[in-house]
This record gives sequence, structure tokens and C-alpha cells, in this order.
Amino acid sequence: MSLKLNSKYVQKFINEDEMNGIKAQVETAAKVLHDRTGLGNDFLGWLDLPVDYDKDEFARIKAAAKKIQGHSDVLIVIGIGGSYLGARAAIELLKSPMYNNMKKDTPDIYYAGNNINPTYLQEIISLCEGRDFSVNVISKSGTTTEPALAFRVFKKLVEEKYGAEGAKDRIFCTTDKARGTLKELADAEGYETFVIPDDVGGRFSVLTAVGLLPIAVAGCDIDALMTGAAKAREDFTADFDNNDCYKYAALRNILHRKGKAVELMVSYDPAFCMMSEWYKQLFGESEGKDNKGIFPASVVFSTDLHSMGQFIQDGSRVMFETVVDIKNPKQDMFLEDDEANLDGLNFLTNQNMSVVNRKALEGTVLAHTEGGVPNIILELDQIDEENLGYMIYFFEKACAVSGYVLGVNPFNQPGVESYKSNMFALLGKPGYEDKKAALEAKLS
Ligand code: PA5
Repeated sequence: MSLKLNSKYVQKFINEDEMNGIKAQVETAAKVLHDRTGLGNDFLGWLDLPVDYDKDEFARIKAAAKKIQGHSDVLIVIGIGGSYLGARAAIELLKSPMYNNMKKDTPDIYYAGNNINPTYLQEIISLCEGRDFSVNVISKSGTTTEPALAFRVFKKLVEEKYGAEGAKDRIFCTTDKARGTLKELADAEGYETFVIPDDVGGRFSVLTAVGLLPIAVAGCDIDALMTGAAKAREDFTADFDNNDCYKYAALRNILHRKGKAVELMVSYDPAFCMMSEWYKQLFGESEGKDNKGIFPASVVFSTDLHSMGQFIQDGSRVMFETVVDIKNPKQDMFLEDDEANLDGLNFLTNQNMSVVNRKALEGTVLAHTEGGVPNIILELDQIDEENLGYMIYFFEKACAVSGYVLGVNPFNQPGVESYKSNMFALLGKPGYEDKKAALEAKLS
């Protein structure tokens, strides 16, 4: 298992005093986290989750995944934010961003309820036509509008095709253990339910049934995922000098205090794209509050070197990069000799494509640091379930510690409510009458 922080390309942007100075703050933040005395301390279930989880439910998750694999060509995963991003990130990273198009003996997976666009939903419905499908609806609150709308549509489709009895075999609900509309509905209809623990917030929930059921349906080894996370839990309790998680939290806070407003998560693998989306939600919702926080953004290179590369190299100096360096790709290939050499690429004959990608990484790190962009490097040997579990825990803990150092509650998301209440008012939801009139006046 591996994940190593390489700070060589950030050294010239910070000095030893800064690192020593922040060390005590990070250690205090970590102690507060472990003592469970900080802000949002009733949402720390994720800290021990890799070892302290419901083993019976874990077995039920595996059984449900087998059942879905056995009778479905398609699984529709309905959820938004923390109730969807982790599963998709893991599946795309471990399998492929082209998972649905690959030859495989596991169901295609489509993600619904993560937006309100009618075309998107119609397209997913049409992809289910003539195929056997199941639904996993995921919502901790059980009341989020986007997944609730999509679930109403898919519940009807399942019932029309398989009947109310058949639906019990094909609808799986992941939600609160006791509360919420979804829990009530699932109990009333007799659907199998999985629990999102009270003390695990949405964006920290990928290692609960929220992520584990879809990930298992895709054929990934969820035991190994938990093993990796458990190892990280152990490793990242070490003292600051031996703790890359704490050092990462320290570096990003130092850089932030020196005026870096944006963290760009950089990868050289398109399969990491959704992982970056997961990271963006994790850090964005956790740190971005009280008019504070680092804006999390992401790019995939070398693709985005041809779109964002100019800005990063030469534009306003507002950012630092965190580069995920995966040493060994899942597959490699050689470039063959071409006698005519019309494209002039024979200097790369017999070269691994991964070496070309590596040279792009090395060249870019040097160019960007030269251009004034600090680069933190996170080195991983390879992508597999254990390493992914390890990395998930690394980011979750770094996020919590970072948030405490920043002085915010990393476990709430009060800002998400504003758009919801405006939307409900404009849609005429009962109880929002006064607000509706006020908003419509502003819009006219
Ligand atoms: O991290 C969070 O808490 C949020 O992103 C939620 O996951 C998201 O809003 C979905 O909420 P729910 O699972 O209640 O539908």
C-alpha cells in the first residue's frame, strides 16, 4: 500500500519556520479531532468506520450486489453530492471511465438524481428499455429534491415492468436508519434498506453502503477497499513528522495563508476525473464557509494542458497544484517503429506510453513551479482497491484537520440551503408563499 507526499516542489515557496509554525496548529487540530471535542463532533463516525462498521450489513451489501448482478443488465444509482460522487469515483477509477462500454459480466451503471435536467433523465430511461434493471436510491435525509424526483420516476418504471412484488427484489434504499421520507416509503413498500450512520455526513460516506453497494455491483473488492482504509486509519495517527496526511493539511494551509486561493487537483489519468469531483465536494463543502476556504478545482493532464495550461503557467498567481502521481498504470503499450517516420516520432520507438506520460508530468511540474505555482505531489504505486481505500481515508482526514486549522466546522453545509429554499418558493411549495412573492418581484 502506498501514498507518499513529496514536498520537493513546494519547498521554494515556503520556509522551515512556516512549517514548524503550523505544526503545532495541525497537531492541536488532530488532537481535537481524536478527542472529539471540536466543531461538528457528532459527525465523526467516518474516523473509525474502516474497522468499526456493521459486519452483518456488510454481508447484506455483498449479497444484494450478487443479486443485482444476477438479475440486472443495468443498475440505476440515484443520489446527489455525497450520496453519489464516491461510488462513481471509485467505479471509474477501479474499472474505467468507460465502464459501461467495456466487455464485462457486471451490470451497466447509470447515475440519476444528480441533476434536474429532463433530457438527461429521459436518456437514462431510454437506455433501460428492453433491459432488466434495478435501482439503488441513496439519500441520507431522504428528502433531497433531485434524487426524490428521479426515484419517483424509476419506482414507477420498476413497478410497471416487474409489479409491486417484483419491485421488492429490485429496489434498494440507502438512507437513515429510522427517519425521513425515503425510510418511511421503503418500509411501507417492503424494500431492502441499508443504513447511513447518523454520525457520518454525506461527503464522508463512501465507505458505508452509500458507496459500497454500487461499488460491489461493479465487481470491485469492497473487503480490500476497507482493508486499505483501515491501514490508513492506523498510519495517519502517527506524529506530525511521520504523517503525510497532517503534512498535506499543513502545506495547503500555509499556501492558503500566503494568498493561494485555489487548489488544483491534477492527475494524468482520465479515470481520476470523478475522484477529483469527489475531492472537490469533500473539501469544498467542508472548508468553504464563513467567507473562508480554498476553492477546490481540478484538471486532467495532458488534456487540460491544452485548455488551462496557459493560465496555470502564466495567468494570475492564485493557485497551487496537488498532483496525483500514479507510478504504474493498469495497462501500458509500446510505440512501434514506423519506417517512413513521417510524423517524426521514431525517437520514441519502443518507448512505453507511460514513460511519455511521466515525462509530461515531470516537465509540467518543473514548468509550473518555475512559473510560480507550488506543486504538492502525492505518489501512489498503483490503483487498486486497497490503495483507493487508503487514499479515501487520507483525503477525509486531511480535510477534517485542514478545516479545523482553518477555523471552520468541516462537517456542516449551511450554505447549501439557500438555493433550495429559493427553488421551493419559486415552485410554489406550500409554506413558502411570502418568499415566492418577494423572489418573483426581484426576478421581474
Ligand atoms: O455531503 C453532504 O452532506 C451533501 O453533499 C449530501 O450528500 C447531499 O446534499 C445529498 O444529501 P442526501 O443524502 O440527504 O440526499
